[in-house]
Amino acid sequence: MESLDSSAIPWRLAAAALVLDERRRNPSAAIDRATARSILKRFGFLYPATIANLPADLRPRGGEMPLGITHGAIAPIGGTRVEVANLGCAACHAGVTYDETGGPRPDRAWLGTPNSSIDLEAYTQAIFDATRRHIGSEELLTTAATLYPEMGWRERQSLRWLVIPLAKRRLAALEGQPRPLPFPNGSPGSTNGVAALKHALGAPLAEGGPGDDGIVSVPELGRREWRSALLADGAYALPGVKPGATVEADLTAERLRELAAITSFFTVPSMGVHPDRAQQRIGDAEAVFAWLRTYRPQPFPGAIDHGAARRGAAVYRAQCAACHGDYAMNESAAPQLVRFPNWIGDVGTDPLRARLFDAELRKAVGNTGYRKLIAVKAGRGYAAPPLAGLWSSAPYLHNGSVTSLGALLDPTQRQARFLVGGHALDFESVGLRLGPAGAYPDGYRPFSTPQWTDTTQPGRGNGGHLFGAGLTAADRQALIEFLKRL
Ligand code: HEC
Ligand code: HEC
Repeated sequence: MESLDSSAIPWRLAAAALVLDERRRNPSAAIDRATARSILKRFGFLYPATIANLPADLRPRGGEMPLGITHGAIAPIGGTRVEVANLGCAACHAGVTYDETGGPRPDRAWLGTPNSSIDLEAYTQAIFDATRRHIGSEELLTTAATLYPEMGWRERQSLRWLVIPLAKRRLAALEGQPRPLPFPNGSPGSTNGVAALKHALGAPLAEGGPGDDGIVSVPELGRREWRSALLADGAYALPGVKPGATVEADLTAERLRELAAITSFFTVPSMGVHPDRAQQRIGDAEAVFAWLRTYRPQPFPGAIDHGAARRGAAVYRAQCAACHGDYAMNESAAPQLVRFPNWIGDVGTDPLRARLFDAELRKAVGNTGYRKLIAVKAGRGYAAPPLAGLWSSAPYLHNGSVTSLGALLDPTQRQARFLVGGHALDFESVGLRLGPAGAYPDGYRPFSTPQWTDTTQPGRGNGGHLFGAGLTAADRQALIEFLKRL
């Protein structure tokens, strides 16, 4: 109920509004769930037929909800009933798999891979626009009833007498505003957790909101349990751990519990949960970390030149391992991380996101019940992340500003403007498959609506991290072959 003020939505009403809005554009669109589904897919939500790495003892949920949407019925006041939906972890932390040529398989998802197409800005805006347009019309309720014939009398009455009046009141408060949120809410594959957290905790937003654009691209979750501080800038450190403390396979249960406690706090910005209640979910986050210990990212589905990968391992050891960690090589399976330095510093990448985790936000986090669970340390630059599952997680850097590993390692190849969302991968440069000028190749049909990334915009800069720039072309290619195996 509480998160209805922020992230959650009365699902059936919102779906009805989206479908009615679709009919304005396309009068022949049917009022059915297939239409609702096709609209939601455009925002990068997935309806996979299979989840390739679902643990054997779990059964797929199925049903009409996209992957990662959590939902259930609430009774805001006695005798009412409303079906409510919110973003769960897998909306952002499960992505598509790829075939051996880099073609995306939205029908086959992988938990732990970033959803590099999820576009919460477009999703929020579409629900806002559609609700505003249709809230006053009787058709909204009849459409909801057509879409959800199983909806009972109680929910229909709850929507009519409780939810619609509340929504009208909220929309009246936003009268004349073009957007429902004061801050930019990300772009495909990137979300704005810092601004969402400020919003949730009542901390001031940069320039009142529009300037709080410190977006972060959703990370791959592989080997994140080796970190001693979470977030792109390592702002959430484990209490009592020295910054930059090297982790060697000493992942004690105690450490995992502490990481889980920090992770439970992520439900505050991403789901609109109150910090006091978020703490009650630490046990669930512990279960997530127990799973992450056994988790393996998707193996690279294309060809790997193993001779080159061996040479690349040596280049990696010399040029990258000091910050990104040491691997034990293994001919058959993926190289194993054996030491992770938790390096944090300034490598010249776009500073905006790190800067926006400011003193006011530090104080606001410290004023929640998480004071003893999170040692907030901002202002140190960015953390060198574990590189597990790297090949599937383009675009790169914390802000998703670099299209491929080839372009990361050879800055002359970095593109100023490019599309992201519903993309295919290119296995040569290992990154987004793009045509000239950053558009998709002719004839490619993205599975979700892409948006342009313009790296000249604040927060989107693609400079810095010049490691690898001095390598010969052969060494660079060998390094990329090695990175495919992580
Ligand atoms: C709205 C999309 C979204 C949702 C929902 C979401 N996350 Fe995340 N997650 C992110 C982004 C983006 C980051 C990186 C944030 C940053 O670095 O500032 C992140 C970071 C993380 C990290 C830390 C990775 C690291 O190395 O710092 C963990 C662990 C994690 N999420 C787990 C979860 C779990 C568990 C849930 C469900 C309770 C969840 N996330 C829900 C988008 C999301
Ligand atoms: C001095 C420390 C340091 C060295 C050396 C270093 N990196 Fe990094 N690396 C970082 C930091 C810090 C980041 C995060 C920067 C950001 O996101 O703004 C990063 C980010 C990355 C990313 C982006 C990860 C993602 O998920 O988007 C890749 C890929 C990467 N490094 C590869 C390499 C390779 C390959 C080398 C060796 C040629 C290397 N790095 C050398 C510190 C380092």
